[in-house]
Amino acid sequence: MTTSSIDATRSPRLPAGFVWGASTAAYQIEGAAEADGKGASIWDTFVRRPGAVRDGHTGDIACDHHRRFEEDVALMRRLGLDAYRFSLSWPRVLPAGAGRVEPRGLDFYDRLVDSLLDAGIEPTPTLFHWDLPQALEDGGGWLNRETAHRFAEYATVVAERLGDRVTRWITLNEPFVHMSFGYGFGVHAPGHALMLDALPVAHHQLLGHGLATAALRAAVPNAQVLIANNCTPVRLRPDARRDEDAAAAHAYDVLHNRLFNDPILSGSYPDLSAYGMTDSSWGGVVREGDLATISAPLDGLGVNYYNPTWVTAPADPAAALPFDLAEPVEPYERTTFDWPVVPDGLTELLTGLQDRYGDRLPPVWITENGCSQPAGLHDRARIDYLAGHIAAIARAVDLGVDVRGYFTWSLLDNFEWAEGYHQRFGLVEVDFATGRRTPRDSFGWYRDLIASQRS
Ligand code: BGC
Repeated sequence: MTTSSIDATRSPRLPAGFVWGASTAAYQIEGAAEADGKGASIWDTFVRRPGAVRDGHTGDIACDHHRRFEEDVALMRRLGLDAYRFSLSWPRVLPAGAGRVEPRGLDFYDRLVDSLLDAGIEPTPTLFHWDLPQALEDGGGWLNRETAHRFAEYATVVAERLGDRVTRWITLNEPFVHMSFGYGFGVHAPGHALMLDALPVAHHQLLGHGLATAALRAAVPNAQVLIANNCTPVRLRPDARRDEDAAAAHAYDVLHNRLFNDPILSGSYPDLSAYGMTDSSWGGVVREGDLATISAPLDGLGVNYYNPTWVTAPADPAAALPFDLAEPVEPYERTTFDWPVVPDGLTELLTGLQDRYGDRLPPVWITENGCSQPAGLHDRARIDYLAGHIAAIARAVDLGVDVRGYFTWSLLDNFEWAEGYHQRFGLVEVDFATGRRTPRDSFGWYRDLIASQRS
């Protein structure tokens, strides 16, 4: 990145009306784990499992956003955000996941929405960002098809309360990560290490997305419905062996990207034979009519992008998975998570989606993008990261991709899942002992960028 990237006014211009936002998620910021009748979620349970989260951190208090949300909305107003992406905690609204609605849970989101609207910020809620009610997990969680129906019922409850003021909705956050980390490898809640037996979780989440899309449209006539998928361009190393490594890259792309985009945008699943799935009904998991529900038209595709993924053929041909994850040979800058910083991967990803889905690709929204950096207020590396990725979006727009908005991850330092409070993604630093918020240099940079893009 050149020194000019620090000057927000020199960032390439995105089209008029482009929406500038920031993202968070309920379990990562709210705290108030038991307040106002909230039920337990799978994360409330998982964080108590010894060794599950680094240093035993929990989201019990997190950023204390449940009590301090007005202060956080004031920070968003200072940034000049057009929109704010947050998630609702399902067990705050329905403590047992279904049945009895907890009015105090809905009241909280009602107040948050009103406070955002007063600040001129468009609320953009996500219905599910991984904190499934524990009561539903006790019945099998997303391994159980019934959870998709409970999700649609929950969508109706929320939409009936907020739909008079909220038009843009996101159903699920990153069903790939929830399936693989939560049910495949067991490093996130609910902590099942089922490997490929986790695949039904993909279908049941997607079915839930389709059913919730219909529920939102029924309750909110002008609803704009999106899903936020984690997407990654898949890359080979320069020393790749032609056929084996290309096959591994194809298989990885199928699992990470196409398994979650194809059914929504094309109405069919990709060939999963590399994962031992030769029967198109997945042994009865995919039922007649499901794909029609899942592929109901969307108003936008949310894309969460952090970095490309490098793969090689598996070193052990008998391995369960048809790829090995690899490291790039290029000396990319790294975040404190050790993720490579590759802005052009975002241009590649966006143009690749356009090439793959053509007219079936709805407008794209970048629903997450950001980086973890060391604690401290002078976060030049974060500014470079954001500037590089925003420029990469502008390039994709120049190449014909319809991108409508950008939500950076994240407004605040927060509970970073299995890493606890060790990874800091915020434009605003949070002192977790006191709850004190202090804007970083990147906060001022993003504020200036938004202002200059509007002028
Ligand atoms: C998730 C966020 C998470 C971020 C950084 C995304 O996968 O949606 O909840 O904090 O990545 O790891």
